[in-house]
Amino acid sequence: MMTFVNNDFGDVLLHRSSVRDFDPSVTIPREELTAMIQETITAPSACNLQAWHFEVVDNAAGKDLLRQYFMKFNLPQLESASAVVQIFGDTQAFKSYRDLWNKAAADGRITPEKRDEVLRTFLPLYEKAPQSMLVADSSVDSAIAATQLMLVARAHGYETNPIGGYDTTKAAKLFGLDPTRYVPVMAIAIGKPAKNGKDEMKSARYPVDQVLHFAD
Ligand SMILES: Cc1cc2nc3c(=O)[nH]c(=O)nc-3n(C[C@H](O)[C@H](O)[C@H](O)COP(=O)(O)O)c2cc1C
Repeated sequence: MMTFVNNDFGDVLLHRSSVRDFDPSVTIPREELTAMIQETITAPSACNLQAWHFEVVDNAAGKDLLRQYFMKFNLPQLESASAVVQIFGDTQAFKSYRDLWNKAAADGRITPEKRDEVLRTFLPLYEKAPQSMLVADSSVDSAIAATQLMLVARAHGYETNPIGGYDTTKAAKLFGLDPTRYVPVMAIAIGKPAKNGKDEMKSARYPVDQVLHFAD
């Protein structure tokens, strides 16, 4: 794991805002991109299924792919970002689930009895699940990962823009993925802001009372 250049959690969390104009001269080494994804996948997920997949674009060939399904208003971010991470939900992540728990048992992190109990409890839920539930579950996992990636990027000294404005029917195929298995959830553009690329005006939020209710 890398050392964070910004380890001030308050700053990382509260000063995040979408940047849509990046400095195109900045490159992020693949080692660092890999470290960022590694830090991202410490995120929680339903049943620890980790139903996410990351396609990382950091060069011209990758950007050619993105240009084919991104909406026009997202092209400035795409053209100027150092990297764009297209996050997919993996609706068949449950197929690796047995391996995960077998390894945990082999490593002595859980007992074989506990492993069997976990597999007995959770695996059938997914094996019997309708596709709509698998899509919903993997989308939630991936959205949590997306949020974590945006914060991880800030800890590495970068800014981000989450992007959902693209043709969802094209994304998986363009990356050579099975579109019945992988559902696009969000793309995250990452880079250093261009001069004046970070708008210091925070986007508005509703007052907390409007969205909060204590249920008692
Ligand atoms: C799921 C999702 C999809 C988004 N899609 C886009 C997009 O296609 N293009 C864009 O410029 N911003 C997009 N955004 C960014 C939002 O506009 C932005 O997060 C929101 O206005 C709040 O501003 P802030 O990120 O600066 O706090 C998206 C954000 C989310 C969470």
